[in-house]
Amino acid sequence: MSVEKADDKAIAAAAEHLRAGRLVAFPTETVYGLGADATNGHAVAQIFAAKGRPRFNPLIVHVLSATEAATHADFTPLARRLADAFWPGPLTLVVEMRQGSPLSDLVTGGLTSIAVRSPDHPVARALLAATGRPLAAPSANRSGHVSPTQAAHVDADLGEAVAMVLDGGATAHGLESTIVDARGETPILLRPGAVTVEAIEAALATKVVRGDIDAARPSAPGQLLSHYAPSAKVRLNARDVRAGEALLAFGPDAPETEGPVINLSPSGDLAEAAANLFTALRTLDAAGVPSIAVMPIPEAGLGEAINDRLQRAAAPR
Ligand code: TXA
Ligand code: MG
Repeated sequence: MSVEKADDKAIAAAAEHLRAGRLVAFPTETVYGLGADATNGHAVAQIFAAKGRPRFNPLIVHVLSATEAATHADFTPLARRLADAFWPGPLTLVVEMRQGSPLSDLVTGGLTSIAVRSPDHPVARALLAATGRPLAAPSANRSGHVSPTQAAHVDADLGEAVAMVLDGGATAHGLESTIVDARGETPILLRPGAVTVEAIEAALATKVVRGDIDAARPSAPGQLLSHYAPSAKVRLNARDVRAGEALLAFGPDAPETEGPVINLSPSGDLAEAAANLFTALRTLDAAGVPSIAVMPIPEAGLGEAINDRLQRAAAPR
């Protein structure tokens, strides 16, 4: 694959690849996505092959606007209000697919609903505009691995199945989008992410219900228990560091250690910690330690999404 700085020329070349049914990895404001033309089943199938991902897992469709999304899906009043409040941005809406939508069945994994979002990243938007198609894009990592927040992560994880990686630098949020089921009248949280529950509740003046993962079956990798997993074991809520362990610290009170250590945010800022999370896991993992001790992270705000990813990284494999 070629990794290219995401200038106008590279974006035009990437759009050509996509229109020809090839895969392109591109930056979004959350993590890097592995994109394919969502209307081309052959192209979408290559995503599953490149990721080594079980085929039934549905993908997120990226579009430029709510107007474009509404050509593919039935937008409920709730979906409209959420899109008005958070698009473009890191919120994915699960809505019923429209009859006759040209989206490939592989995108929905056979469900009648689709997950759709309008990304807020200049490169992602320029690519969508240049391609003129909706883009199916899961995170651009091998299935079960840590999501990529830099172009180099994609390069390290995925092989020649990817025609091009557009390098737009490190992503701003560093965590995937929040996924909300917006088919009914009450928003149901299916995956915590870059938009907090508190922000959704404030924007809508409505309570968000935590979804039952089993009820949202068939669910995908972000919802499987062991996911986002580094090679090292992950020990949560650590207040000390054991022999041979690396430390993933948070806040000003990190314990002393001789081993590798990364502090997600020395000041205790959750947005900073989210942005650093996946790169830190990769970096500590690359040190070859058998185990990574992770300090407790507060559960408020973005802490919910950070802890969700850490629990999956620590789950038995
Ligand atoms: O931030 C993000 O959302 C990134 C960037 C690239 O946009 N994408 C991402 O995609 O995280 P992926 O494929 O790694 O995660 C997609 C999630 C899966 O957990 C899947 O279960 C859920 O979306 N999903 C997709 N379609 C769904 C549907 N119809 N109903 C319920 N969940 C769905
Ligand atoms: Mg993923």
